[in-house]
Amino acid sequence: MEFKTLETVKQSALKEIEGISGEKSLETWRIKYLGRKSDLNKILRSLKTLPDNKKREIGFQANNLKKELEKLFAQKNQTLKTGRHRETSFDVSIPGRKISLGHLHPLTKTEQKIREIFLSMGFSIVCGPEIETEYYNFDALNIPPDHPARDLWNTFWLRQSEFKNQKPKTENQKLLLRTHTSPVQIRYMEEHHPPFQIIVPGRVFRYEATDVSHEINFYQVEGLMVGKDVSLVNFKFIVEEFFKKLFGSKIQLRFRPSYFPFVEPGLEVDIKLATSDKRQATRWLEIMGAGMVHPKVFEAVHYNPRDWQGFAFGLGLERLAMIQYNIPDIRLFYSSDLRFIKQF
Ligand code: FA5
Repeated sequence: MEFKTLETVKQSALKEIEGISGEKSLETWRIKYLGRKSDLNKILRSLKTLPDNKKREIGFQANNLKKELEKLFAQKNQTLKTGRHRETSFDVSIPGRKISLGHLHPLTKTEQKIREIFLSMGFSIVCGPEIETEYYNFDALNIPPDHPARDLWNTFWLRQSEFKNQKPKTENQKLLLRTHTSPVQIRYMEEHHPPFQIIVPGRVFRYEATDVSHEINFYQVEGLMVGKDVSLVNFKFIVEEFFKKLFGSKIQLRFRPSYFPFVEPGLEVDIKLATSDKRQATRWLEIMGAGMVHPKVFEAVHYNPRDWQGFAFGLGLERLAMIQYNIPDIRLFYSSDLRFIKQF
């Protein structure tokens, strides 16, 4: 009876200790097989009731098993302590570690919102190349060479030798980084017939000094609507609707006459900014240039200016995002400063 029990104890102790990978479970094992209430201890305590010959034999076996199990325990304990078999259990009450997911840049978010609003008003989204020819960036927009208006856009010119495969369309094929999204007006009108209404979000480049509201690389969203009887009234309505949808009805706009060679009349739109500084009770930020498409531009794309009218505008994306997120300096967008980026 005792022999069988000792053998059973041994087999089950050996089997269980194999699967143990944590210190807690090892302690449970120790209590079960070597503790005061263990079967082995019971056997050892019952020895005194046995006849002498049995006492010796079983006592010998039981003590050997005890030593064997103690050795096994010490070895396992050592193995676990040196970390070779760490316990795989975990504490479910510890707060989880947050996985850091990427997110959209504030400029992308603002651009997406702008796209949504114009799509909801029936506009299509169009894009064009960032490397442009002098023809599309200037000439076709009624800004011939030597026209003083070219100074409005300080230009990054590109070395012609690097673009040998470009097929010249006109003589004026010098390459540049587009200074505004307006050349896409020409590209689109060359290939489409009115009526239409499009927006063109895109990156533009200017060779100029930076400050809190000027970057050398920034984004514009061009707008162009051409049809019969399109007027400045349509423009005003669309722009006001757009800003209401973007910022809510509280926003205040100001329309000022301005000059751009490719529109007549031309205007600029400013947004009134909330400011806590009393000395600066009214601060306006210029947000877009606009106007009615100039007849010379229609002629460049072979539209008859007597048949078609249109308005065009070009707004600064960073400036809108600055208002939307209350960002004081345009240069923060491109600073790659994670403390800034992580706030959005
Ligand atoms: C233009 O670029 C014209 N193409 C806009 C236009 C389109 C007029 C169609 C008429 C018809 P302007 O240079 O003013 O215009 O730039 C338009 C907007 O881009 C500005 O109102 C401003 O919001 C933004 N912007 C201009 N320069 C910078 C700059 N350096 N950094 C950031 N935003 C700028």
